[in-house]
Amino acid sequence: MTLAIEATQTPPAEAAQPFALELRGLSRTFTLGGGLLRRGRTLHAVSEVSLRVPRGQVMGLVGESGCGKSTLAKMLLGLTSPTAGEVLIDGRPIVGTAQKALARHVQPIFQDPYSSLNPRQRVAQIVGLPLRIHGIGSPREQAARVAEMLDLVGLPGRAARQYPGQLSGGQRQRVAIARALIMRPALVICDEPTSALDVSVQAQILNLLLDLKEAFGLTYLFISHDLAVIEHLADRLAVMYLGRIIEEGTREQIFSAPRHPYTRALLASALTPEPGLGVPDIGLGSVQPDPSAPPPGCAFHPRCPLAEPGCSQQRPLLNDTGGDGRVACHLA
Ligand SMILES: Nc1ncnc2c1ncn2[C@@H]1O[C@H](COP(=O)(O)OP(=O)(O)O)[C@@H](O)[C@H]1O
Ligand SMILES: [Mg+2]
Repeated sequence: MTLAIEATQTPPAEAAQPFALELRGLSRTFTLGGGLLRRGRTLHAVSEVSLRVPRGQVMGLVGESGCGKSTLAKMLLGLTSPTAGEVLIDGRPIVGTAQKALARHVQPIFQDPYSSLNPRQRVAQIVGLPLRIHGIGSPREQAARVAEMLDLVGLPGRAARQYPGQLSGGQRQRVAIARALIMRPALVICDEPTSALDVSVQAQILNLLLDLKEAFGLTYLFISHDLAVIEHLADRLAVMYLGRIIEEGTREQIFSAPRHPYTRALLASALTPEPGLGVPDIGLGSVQPDPSAPPPGCAFHPRCPLAEPGCSQQRPLLNDTGGDGRVACHLA
């Protein structure tokens, strides 16, 4: 079946632009309200993030809770505006693009499908909603497209008539995936898409995401605190600490020869996750860094086992490693 959707795919003239996603100096701050001590302080959730994701690749984004991963994701989806910097999708800046137009190119898959699925709508309505909003195809074509999509994500035909509450967690995430992909976006932002699922279901959903990526030629920005997931999926990976990318490179590079002491700690801790928390204990003390009062110099220096006096003086730049990667550390 050929619908108008196909026409939204990238025309050949732009094939030379290799990046599905490019971030240039992207920053987001929040001004804090609340308690007297913090009121009016500026929280740097994301700071000067520059990143390029080639078409068809999976860029993993890792880092501890609170380091700015979701804020970054929301900026790419047009849900939060940057305080500085630029987001380009397929070479085009998204600033000024209406949410509805942007939704044809980039779609999210979030951690908790239940909260994002209308409990009073049947699965067919939920998955078909984007087609109706964009006025794509006749009702009959829309229904066919929905049925095809449900089949592609591995849901039985009868799921179309069910409500989210009648489905398992894994099935609900399949519905969310079907809805995200029905418009055939080029770019999908996955924010911890399997973190709320049973371990036995996680692998099925991850493999589904990989199959769909191949089938549709998708590009993923894949956010996870789980390095095993990232190792399974990612072509490249970026490590964030207190709003900044501190290391970036190919999966092989980073897993075999991490340069940044924080990356090394993360990798070491992946072997001994703290049960229950879902967040690895990186073994560097539980001092939670405060993004409204980041340490001077290298923000990681108070927890760094290798820190030298200079590390608290000057912030290290994210420099090329010589290979195909970047690292921000005075000692790397
Ligand atoms: N709307 C907001 N107002 C104030 N602070 C926020 C807001 N959203 C996120 N933050 C803060 O920004 C930082 C990064 O949060 P987030 O992007 O959710 O991190 P992550 O997804 O890596 O856990 C945290 O300190 C968080 O408290
Ligand atoms: Mg988050």
